[in-house]
Formats: sequence, C-alpha cells, structure tokens
Amino acid sequence: MDQVDFLVIGAGIAGLSAAIRLAQVGKVLVVTKEELAESNTAYAQGGIAVAMGGDEDVALHLKDTVAAGDGLVNQKAAAVLVEQGPKRVEELLAWGTGFDRENGELMRTREGAHSRNRILHANGDATGREIAVSLLRHVREIPAIELMEWTTSVDLLVEDGRVVGATLLDGEGGLRVVHARAVLLASGGAGQVYSDTTNPAVATGDGIAMAYRAGAAISDMEFYQFHPTAFAMKGAPRFLLSEALRGEGAYLVNARGERFMERYHPLLELAPRDVVARAITMESIDGPVHLDMRHVATDPKAKARDLKARFPGISAFLAKRQLELERDLIPVRPAAHYLMGGVKADVQGHTSLPGLYAAGEVACTGVHGANRLASNSLLEGLVFGALAAEAMIEEQGIATKEEGREEVAAAPSGPVTGDAQTEKWIKELRELMWKDAGLLRDAAGLERAKRGWLALARTIPHGLSRRVIEARNLHVVAGLIIESAMGRKESRGAHFRNDFREHGKVAKHSVMERGKLTFMA
Ligand code: SIN
Repeated sequence: MDQVDFLVIGAGIAGLSAAIRLAQVGKVLVVTKEELAESNTAYAQGGIAVAMGGDEDVALHLKDTVAAGDGLVNQKAAAVLVEQGPKRVEELLAWGTGFDRENGELMRTREGAHSRNRILHANGDATGREIAVSLLRHVREIPAIELMEWTTSVDLLVEDGRVVGATLLDGEGGLRVVHARAVLLASGGAGQVYSDTTNPAVATGDGIAMAYRAGAAISDMEFYQFHPTAFAMKGAPRFLLSEALRGEGAYLVNARGERFMERYHPLLELAPRDVVARAITMESIDGPVHLDMRHVATDPKAKARDLKARFPGISAFLAKRQLELERDLIPVRPAAHYLMGGVKADVQGHTSLPGLYAAGEVACTGVHGANRLASNSLLEGLVFGALAAEAMIEEQGIATKEEGREEVAAAPSGPVTGDAQTEKWIKELRELMWKDAGLLRDAAGLERAKRGWLALARTIPHGLSRRVIEARNLHVVAGLIIESAMGRKESRGAHFRNDFREHGKVAKHSVMERGKLTFMA
C-alpha cells in the first residue's frame, strides 16, 4: 500500500468495526501487536448486551447502564449506546456472527445489574471469539483493508498540534513511520498493569500511554473494574469465570459455606460488579470464597441444566484442574478486568487532539461512569467504533506525506535493558499496583504506590523491543491511575477508598493532561 488514508491501532471489535466503514472511502491500515485474533474482544465470555425488544427494552437498558455507573454515566453517550446497539448487532448477524439460538430464536441470558435477559451469547461462553472471528472473516474480504500483525505501535506523530500518524515497530525489529489522514486508537485496555487480571498479555494500555505522551486528555483512570469471579488457585491463570454463571443461577458462598450477598445488596449475586467484587474481598478475609453451581445441575426448573453444553470453555478449563461445575465448589477472587477510564473522547471518538480518535476500551466517553454494566463492552466497541469511523470520514485531514510509509533505522536510546530485568521490573510494578492501588484504597496505600512508582521510574527499561515499550506504557498508565485515585477523595463505583467511604457532593470526571489533574462535572 502506497498511501495510508486511515491508521487503526488495534484489531478488536472497535478497530474492525471502524475499519469496515473506513474502507468504503479509503485505504485502511490496521495494526495489532500479536496475531489478529488476540485481543480483549476474543476473551469476552458472557456476551453482548443489547435491547432488541423495542423501545421499552431500550429504555430499561439505559436505566440499568446509568444505575450501574453510580452517578457518573454520561447519559447522552449511554443513550447512543443502547439506541444504536440493536442495528449494529443486526449488522453482525448479517456478517455471519453465530449467536446461540433455541428453536431459531436468539437466546438471551442475564448478568449482574441487568433488569432483563438481554445478553446474546455464542458457542455458550465464547461470545467474544465468535464475534472476533466473524468480523475478521468479513474484513479479510475487503481489499482496501491491510492487516498488519505482530506490529507494536511506539508513538503517535504530532505535527502542528495534529496527529498525523504513528511510529511502528514490526516483528523483525524494524521501525516504520506511517502517515495517515486520521488515526483511530482502538487498542483496548490495560489489565496487565495489575498482577491479577483476566486480560490477555496484550492489554498493556499502549493507546492510553501514547495518547498521553502526545498531549491528549485522559479521563477517569481511577475507575478500574475488578471482575468478581476470576479463578483463584495457586499457580493457575486468573481465568475469567463469566458472570453468566451467576446469571444462570450460581451462588457465592464463603468459607463457612454461607451465601453472603444478602448482607451486601438486594440483587444478591447479580448486584453490580463493584459491589460483588468488594463483598468477595471482604468475605475472603475469613477464607476462600467459592462459586456454587451444583444445585443448578439438578434443578428441574433451571434453564441451563446441562452446564457443560452451556459453558463449554469454562468446563474445559476446570476439567484440566479436575473440577466440575456440577460437582465442585469453584474458588474465585476478583481480578482487574476492564478500564472505565481512558483517552477522553466523545461518542464520535473525537479526542482533545485533532486527527486522533479513540473508541472501545481505550476511550473514556463516560458511557460506563464509575462501573460498567456487564456485557456492555462489546456493544461499546461495536457502536462507537462505527461512529468514530463516520466522523473520521467526514473530517479527514490532508496526508502530510504523500508517499505514505517510510522505513527508518531502529535507534535504541541508551543501554538496552535485558529481558529478565524488564520482566522483573514489570512484575514489581504490577504487584505494587495490585497491593496499593487496587480494589480497596486509602491515602497511605496510594502514597506507597506513588513512592514505588517513582522508584521504578529511576530504573525504567531502555531499548526498542515490544516488551520495553510495554513496560514504559504500563508505567504511564500506573501513574495515571495512582494520581487520579489520590485526587478522588470519595468512593464511587469501582473506586473505593477506605478513608472516604461516601460519594462526594457532586459527581465529577477526572481529567489528566500534561501532568495536571482536574475534576469536572
Ligand atoms: C463475563 O462474562 O462475566 C464478562 C462480561 C463482561 O465483562 O462484560
């Protein structure tokens, strides 16, 4: 390709949804760090929330989204999400996404804080993978889209205040400069900033870090959602045990074998995620908390009695550890799962920098407020990816370099940090974040986190490898989380401070820009 009209960074649901539209008017380059199917999208289990039952359903979806967000949801963004959701999901269906059906009808399940069964799923508990695969199938048929795997984005190019492209590091270690009329960040979240996460290794907050370095405003970074039920066994990965398990009737029980959620929320196991995650953390002080689904398998009224058929991926994971949903209590603990904050953007993806757009988890439109409603994230990528593409088409700038991409020599700065050293450094950062800027926070812990973060700044890895770039990006993201969490002297949604347990008087968004933290209503 000689000329890049649009550069899309990230190949999850938001990036691909945008690329399909952008390709109608120009050439699109989609870059991703690993192989194409490896994104947070592909790991989504439970499903995609969508109100396909008419106006009342849409209104209720909006109400649930706003209620879960704990006073901080941007209602305009949420309205766009739920209203445009059905038509975007119809498009997915037309592109061949195979959601599960019963007697020809789409099946719908429920998850925490939803007032209705409105979550579509695919292959039981592999919804994200089915969506990723079907989108990729569609994208591969579009000649105007070039897909570039194993390519790490290094930094955004800014000329006269406008983002005009990015520097990329290819799989062979070659550095390239790509110029584009508009750049879309669709690079997903940053779960790897915490030692315990459900996210894959690619989720290192690259888009947020690049945008921040380029001068973009970043918002609400203190709101990291911790999924209540990640698998909790020493030596095993923090595998996601979908909220759909509770949607299909699973209980949470403490070390004494008691269901405990009634002491925390009237919606019990289907309370908003932040409430369930904190409840599990509190109960875990006395011993491990478990998911108990044994009664569902024998309940003649249960919809999903055949648990292996309904949850094939989870059942296969557990079987490798000699566990069965039908027979065993399954140990769970919260893990970092989804970032509500990110690059400040409106519903069309506009960021504070001309030429730069953001959609999906990397963006913060305020649609999730302080706590995302379960299964709204795939919908977010789908709807806001498409809207960002429309805006990019309307407002495309002039490509500053007619020749498009050019090769430049790799030029590592200073002594290169060894791989083992880089891994050790990253581990230390992730552990300090988990310990002192995680689920339960207070001033003393956040001060400790900040001191640790500053100490790590002195030994930050150097060189030009994907891992070093990720380490540096994680450091930026960690700093943004710590700073924003220190500034927010209240508890709200996923941000819980032991020293400020109540809401503040007015719900405000935090904004970090060029080292300065402000709060705005
Ligand atoms: C889950 O299946 O529990 C995850 C879905 C989500 O994060 O919305």
